[in-house]
Amino acid sequence: MKPAPEAGEPSLRDRIAHEIARAGPIPFSRYMELCLYEPELGYYSRAREQFGKAGDFYTSSDVHAVFGRLLARQFEEMWREMNSPACVALIELGPGRGLFARDVLDWSAKQFPDFSVSVHYLLVEQSEHLREKLRACLRPHIDDGRCEVFDSPEAAMGQAGGNIIVFGNEFFDALPVEVIDHRGSVRVGYENGRFVETFVAPSAAENEFLDRYGVHPEDRERVEAPLLSLSWMERIASAFRDRCGFLALIDYGYTREEQLAGRHRDTIMCYRRHTASSSPYEAPGEQDITAHVNFTALQARGVDCGLEALGLVTQSQFLIGIGEETEFADAFQDGQLPQERAKVALQLKHLISPAGMGDTFQVLLMSHNVANAKPLSGLKLAR
Ligand SMILES: C[S@@+](CC[C@H](N)C(=O)[O-])C[C@H]1O[C@@H](n2cnc3c(N)ncnc32)[C@H](O)[C@@H]1O
Repeated sequence: MKPAPEAGEPSLRDRIAHEIARAGPIPFSRYMELCLYEPELGYYSRAREQFGKAGDFYTSSDVHAVFGRLLARQFEEMWREMNSPACVALIELGPGRGLFARDVLDWSAKQFPDFSVSVHYLLVEQSEHLREKLRACLRPHIDDGRCEVFDSPEAAMGQAGGNIIVFGNEFFDALPVEVIDHRGSVRVGYENGRFVETFVAPSAAENEFLDRYGVHPEDRERVEAPLLSLSWMERIASAFRDRCGFLALIDYGYTREEQLAGRHRDTIMCYRRHTASSSPYEAPGEQDITAHVNFTALQARGVDCGLEALGLVTQSQFLIGIGEETEFADAFQDGQLPQERAKVALQLKHLISPAGMGDTFQVLLMSHNVANAKPLSGLKLAR
């Protein structure tokens, strides 16, 4: 694996320009896929630091381990709802560098020993560079046979028994999307050293997506049609066939109702060194490109494929629902000094408060074949 192209080697820009020269202007989703996942050159494929202070953006596990600890508490409850099976596969989609998995496994071993011994943690990460980081971060858990790393959900499912919990944090926002502008579906061309947009009539699949789950762009607007997210929901739902368990997806996103109310149009955002921009054509491979997640579409496709919708709540409602009974003991157990506790309180507030990540992020919960399940704590505050 190479850190960056050497002088004389084609850059990602050259590679995209070459594809456009060969095939003509490409769909935005293909441009986004090349920018993020092209082997060796894409943003997530390159050997670089994407996450945390030294990288480009924070996710919840960078804020504090309490995020993973509260989720461990929720997973343990799900496991009990499944009648405490001797083995449950916990499958994480797009785990990045593995902080969440580490927090869940460490906390479960300490707080929930019965659950902990039954967990087989399966990580699904497409980036080879990040799979190496995962192996380093989770070495003790891999060595004791609790944890394995895979490059596709199908490979991971080969190791799962009849009980599964599938989890993803900020996985769907990193999937390539189609962009539908008021002038048509975006095609990316390359002229005089610059990426340029042209437009074609939206495909039947794009129009159907907007008809069913979103809105069509009005004059001077654009929206996304995340078609790939639908096929991912189909892959996830097929993993549940003949199995029982839960699905928990956390991401920033919206419902169709929110879009109808005029919000969440043109949600493509790029992140580089903790600065946000809305220009995906700058510095391909050097910046993260994301789109908000359409939760209406994810839930509907999950239901169409046989999953049961349990609820959609804000991250704030979800974490308070899990943590309030123990007064967030998961956050405060290891810091005894007043200044340590004050720092943790601020980090927890950031995860929960609407001004922080609490209202921007939402949690979609679904299940399959779990008979008479009690409402999960994370859904206690559902409206
Ligand atoms: C925004 S990051 C989130 C990382 C982590 N979940 C977190 O919260 O810090 C998205 C992750 O999804 C991974 N990813 C994207 N597409 C994938 C795919 N098709 N299969 C597996 N992982 C994928 C990326 O490589 C990246 O690690």
